[in-house]
Amino acid sequence: MSESCKNYIDGHWLEATTHKTFENRNPADRHDLIGLFPVSGADDVDQAVQAAKRAFARWRLVPGPKRGEILYRVGELLRKHKEEIARGMTREMGKILKESRGDVQEGIDTALYVAGEGRRFFGQTTPSELPDKFAMSVRAPIGVCALITPWNFPMAIPTWKMFPALLCGNTVVFKPAEDTPHTAVKLAEILTEAGVPPGVVNLIHGRGEEAGAALVRHSDVRVVSFTGSAAVGREIASVCGQNLKRVSLELGGKNAQIVMEDADLNLALEGALWGAFGTTGQRCTATSRLILHRDIKKQLTEMLMARAEKIKIGDGLDESVEMGPLINRAAREKVHRYVQIGKAEGARLLIGGAIYDEGNWADGYFYRPTIFDQVIPSMRIAQEEIFGPVLSIIEVNSFEEGIDVLNATAYGLSSSIYTRDVGRAFRAMRDIEAGITYINGPTIGAEVHLPFGGVKDTGNGHREAGTTVYDIFSEWKSIYVDYSGKLQKAQIDNAE
Ligand code: UN1
Repeated sequence: MSESCKNYIDGHWLEATTHKTFENRNPADRHDLIGLFPVSGADDVDQAVQAAKRAFARWRLVPGPKRGEILYRVGELLRKHKEEIARGMTREMGKILKESRGDVQEGIDTALYVAGEGRRFFGQTTPSELPDKFAMSVRAPIGVCALITPWNFPMAIPTWKMFPALLCGNTVVFKPAEDTPHTAVKLAEILTEAGVPPGVVNLIHGRGEEAGAALVRHSDVRVVSFTGSAAVGREIASVCGQNLKRVSLELGGKNAQIVMEDADLNLALEGALWGAFGTTGQRCTATSRLILHRDIKKQLTEMLMARAEKIKIGDGLDESVEMGPLINRAAREKVHRYVQIGKAEGARLLIGGAIYDEGNWADGYFYRPTIFDQVIPSMRIAQEEIFGPVLSIIEVNSFEEGIDVLNATAYGLSSSIYTRDVGRAFRAMRDIEAGITYINGPTIGAEVHLPFGGVKDTGNGHREAGTTVYDIFSEWKSIYVDYSGKLQKAQIDNAE
């Protein structure tokens, strides 16, 4: 097994004790084998957790600004290696190079933003109700954090979790998705080069049901942060609930873009194309429903069909390609199954709805951009997360109906409305049930210094990124210093 395909535990690159491996293949060309990676078991997970636990004893005492400086170096190294990492990412998970570069950039942004927090990391001081007594609150690290991350943002999402966790003084066991182990190795290499001490970040490859489950159950893991499907999120949450572990979940979405009759239609068109077909529709923030006011529906639908049919599909390493493959065979089967469901439900297929296997592309998991019309909000294609290039058009008669339809799913991650009416824009900001709302912008493209997360079944109330992420990875500690030299009784000595 090559050095670059191993687990990374306590500063050492190791094979799994199971001696089993899994293949990592290019979704644009299944004959392109990137590497064989370890299938880790409970023993490997335990080694990683023990290493993280030992390292915590020292790392928690490293001054915050120092931890921040190391993360700053991580950011510089990510910038230095951006192109190489982006190319590896596209080869590994298929999205087009421009987007892979954006993914690495999101990691750089996170590193630089979090690094600065090393010199802030504010708590509060507040007067005590008693004389000669001082009161303050500080954030304290928690311990070993398990980070379980998806393949669609193989750099950005791990960094959203890992860098704040480290800044707080925690140590980490990182279990990346099976489809993107290579990008995870690149990140681990950079952390080491930047001076993150051995054991502070440990990388475990393998399957969710084995390595992931062992990690979530491990009694020395104090925090679990997971991004992935709602089904797996519920399982993780119940294990964490039983063990009173802190758990932060970032789950599915069924994001919608509303276009009102007063909108700039060219702008709305660009937004819908980017939101629905960017990353081949494989973002939790992807636009999967387009809610159109009846007055502009025909016109915008025609504009959309004309453009979507021309999207150039192919290997993301070719700079002229606009849409890469789906991540793997199972993902493409799922997308295709939903297309059949949509047809059976009575939605009208306007374009796509088929595998794309022209020319050289028979060896990849390509799928055509797909648009359904005459979708009604209760249909499964309008309710369930498809995670592919499938857009459902729903017609509405008013602004109020648009908002109701947008809100009528179990999820609530991202949302968008195109309108020139400032009153409607503000009502939408207030009434949309989602963690993220865009006015005259697509549902994708969140920035790292604002809270990221959703309401309802999208999560369990936490927010990554921004400054809110520190609530996931730290405990508040309230401290009282009594320098009066005598016993003072709160609520009693100062009673009226
Ligand atoms: C995801 O789809 O899981 O807001 C994350 C966005 C990106 C992150 C997406 N910055 O679209």
